[in-house]
Amino acid sequence: MGGNCWLPVTPLLPGSLCLGGIVSAKEPNQAQLGLGAWAIGGSDWGSPQDESTSRRTIALAVERGITFFDTAPTYGDSELLLGRELGPKRDQVTLATKCGPLDDPSDSLEESLRRLQTDYVDLLQLHEVGPDFEGSLEKLDRLRREGKARAIGLCNASASQLVKAHEMVALDTYQAPYNLFDREAEQRHIPFCRKHGLDFLAYRPLASGMLTTRFASASPPTFPEGDHRRMIWWFKGQELSRRLEVIERLSKLAADQAMTLSAFSLKWVLSRPGMAVVLAGARTPEQLEENLSARDGLLDPERVSAVDEAVFQVFRPALAMEHALAEAAGWEPRERFIVEHLDGLTSCDSIAAEWSDGSEPALMGAQVRQFVDQLQAAGMVEFR
Ligand SMILES: NC(=O)c1ccc[n+]([C@@H]2O[C@H](COP(=O)([O-])OP(=O)(O)OC[C@H]3O[C@@H](n4cnc5c(N)ncnc54)[C@H](OP(=O)(O)O)[C@@H]3O)[C@@H](O)[C@H]2O)c1
Repeated sequence: MGGNCWLPVTPLLPGSLCLGGIVSAKEPNQAQLGLGAWAIGGSDWGSPQDESTSRRTIALAVERGITFFDTAPTYGDSELLLGRELGPKRDQVTLATKCGPLDDPSDSLEESLRRLQTDYVDLLQLHEVGPDFEGSLEKLDRLRREGKARAIGLCNASASQLVKAHEMVALDTYQAPYNLFDREAEQRHIPFCRKHGLDFLAYRPLASGMLTTRFASASPPTFPEGDHRRMIWWFKGQELSRRLEVIERLSKLAADQAMTLSAFSLKWVLSRPGMAVVLAGARTPEQLEENLSARDGLLDPERVSAVDEAVFQVFRPALAMEHALAEAAGWEPRERFIVEHLDGLTSCDSIAAEWSDGSEPALMGAQVRQFVDQLQAAGMVEFR
């Protein structure tokens, strides 16, 4: 186990030439802001979004030079709205949609094409890894050869699943969550994409809206019935307290740059190496307008480090105490592995990645962090 700690400006592998990507951007000054069209589609974001607001948001995006739109059949009316608004401008935009892990990719794409009012998509992504992962990828590859999908990609895979998928079908893209809190992709996925020429698409760059002024106060958030964020772990408990503490520090850094928290947070993602498209969701033209200012230049390395430091000060790696190590000797391999790797230097994401390199099922950094919270409550770890 090395000193693979989450210190300011986590090093990544050196960049590689883009061989087959659809966006051709790997270095920070080339990443583009795209519109994530889940929230405007209206499903799982509380009461359905009113159509005219959604359409005005899409129209503003085009007007202001956004060309990449990410959607999925499961995002409510998102594909329909994009089709209505972008149909006449089809050749000016890049349309990325998805198919579900249990769906037939060909049938799913036909439905998407109908809703999107087009006869091809620029990118078709497998939304998650399902039981017939290999079969789904082969079908995606066939759709690419037929030209109905100009490129194909994968979302939400473990590192070993990503490697296997790319060996099978030469993926063009990979999509995963990435924001200044949720940085697991830095461990294996982003370096892999850079090395092998896949475009990395960062989703939830605002941590589902947490990195906005709406949450820049110490009060716990409330979400309406039907908003999926009621179930998201970082809007609760200890993780919420930690994130709000960081947000207080970030708000000052953003203000120093005369930026809002959301634009500043997006700019941080755009400034990170290895990004091709940053998929920011926005429900209204006003939100979109605010977010667009993230495109005016990159954060300088000192600001990037200041953000990383603000996060690191709150998310410090845990150190297992002597009695925890002794007790863990009798625990299951996974739990024992975690405790043995809590050396006060190694991040939860790094521990999860190391475990997942050699063992199934893969472990996520969030699971390690929640386990560490339990250890802390039991007085078995300390933070220096
Ligand atoms: N592949 C996958 O499995 C997957 C999963 C999730 C997302 N995605 C993609 O990634 C895109 C982005 O992710 P996301 O929408 O979940 O999260 P996000 O981009 O981190 O957050 C978007 C939400 O933040 C709030 N917001 C945005 N700008 C704001 C502003 N300036 N001021 C105040 N609030 C603002 C809005 O919600 P409120 O107004 O309701 O607070 C908005 O819907 C999605 O649309 C989708 O295309 C993909």
